[in-house]
Amino acid sequence: MLSLVWVFLLFPHPLFLLYIYPLSFATSIAPHTNLSLSLSFSFSLLFTSLFFMGAIDVSVIAKTEGESMVKREEERMREAEYLKGVRHLCDTGVTKVPSRYILPAPERPHIVRCGDISSSHNLKLPIIDLSLLHTPKRAVALEALSMACKEYGFFQVVNHGIPSEVIKDMIDVSKRFFGMPYDEREKYMSSDLRSPVRYGTSFNQIKDRVFCWRDFLKLNCQPLESVLPFWPSSPADMRDKTIAYANGMKSLFKELMSAILESLGVSKKVLSEFDDGSHLMVVNCFPPCPEPNLTLGMPPHSDYGFLTLLLQDQVAGLQVQYKDEWVTIEPVPGAFVVNIGDHLEIFSNGIYKSILHRVLVNSLQNRISIASLHSMPIEKVISTAAELVSESSPKRYMDTDFATFLNYISSTETKKKNFLESRKLTCTRDQTTEGQLC
Ligand code: OGA
Ligand code: NI
Repeated sequence: MLSLVWVFLLFPHPLFLLYIYPLSFATSIAPHTNLSLSLSFSFSLLFTSLFFMGAIDVSVIAKTEGESMVKREEERMREAEYLKGVRHLCDTGVTKVPSRYILPAPERPHIVRCGDISSSHNLKLPIIDLSLLHTPKRAVALEALSMACKEYGFFQVVNHGIPSEVIKDMIDVSKRFFGMPYDEREKYMSSDLRSPVRYGTSFNQIKDRVFCWRDFLKLNCQPLESVLPFWPSSPADMRDKTIAYANGMKSLFKELMSAILESLGVSKKVLSEFDDGSHLMVVNCFPPCPEPNLTLGMPPHSDYGFLTLLLQDQVAGLQVQYKDEWVTIEPVPGAFVVNIGDHLEIFSNGIYKSILHRVLVNSLQNRISIASLHSMPIEKVISTAAELVSESSPKRYMDTDFATFLNYISSTETKKKNFLESRKLTCTRDQTTEGQLC
């Protein structure tokens, strides 16, 4: 009977909107029940009477619906443009930060003077002179290293043995890569996390609620011979310059790990695991931003592996969390910034800390940084060093592997939590961020 009345009311009447809106509204109040049908029927009668009394103008409803479809289409097109990256966005001449990049007020950086991120909040990280490791002063250098890893989770290294030419060439070719037309860079776009080469934007462009002001080129460096053919072939010298740099980073990483194992007092047998360990290079490009106080180049995050070796050009931007404050790391010419990753925190049973860090952007200069993230082979299970577990110092983290991490970053219910937090056997630290995929 009820359905007959419906057919009668719907059929001669072209104004479906008067029925479809009440139906969906009623269904949302009382899904799957007869009540929803009776409710929608009553609403329809009410709306139809209002319509005949002239209180509802259907052309207005139809126009609003049409306008919102146009808006959705515009939004979809804008989103597709944003996925081309910030460099591309800047080339179109933006003078304001689009809303997609604007952080909620509490997450915005506090920049003292716009365009100038050097402020009183600068931190002189411990500078470790690596040449001392080869002298009778090795013990002094190890002590300084141990203090830096415990107190800051970050330090800078000088006299590291990487030729200045290799460093200069890597920065230079990276700048030229991001200076190429978008069509050239686009060839390397991929959403496959295991791809040997990935060009992209933001932090995690699939998941990010708010985009960040960064484009990146991620190069998997392991095993070098098999990934090389996938690396960008332009600029023409990109591969050669990057191979020289990647080889330098690998040996510097192993030298640092050897010193770190010694400073922890654990066996160096594990060093051989790094020979064919995972090695990812992330070339970051942070274009000048018209309103740097509204967005970030990278959100607060910790790094995934054992160590990250970061080369930054002479433009400041990296901030680390120190005593609950964000402090800027001033670039030291020729130095690398080294930080502890989640895996080393797990391996050291929490003695050395993987610290949250983020990147500010500025309104004046383009910034380039190159992060080399190192760990064990991806199929290896990372566990705490046996020597560091005892009755008085019980194991604090669950063992972990790459598959667990991939599950973690793609799961929706845990996406706001820090990966390291999810491995802790007792959770304490603030759970707001995620580790960067290596
Ligand atoms: C990173 C990172 C910092 C920077 O790539 O993981 O933290 O200064 N980079 O670019
Ligand atoms: Ni990082």
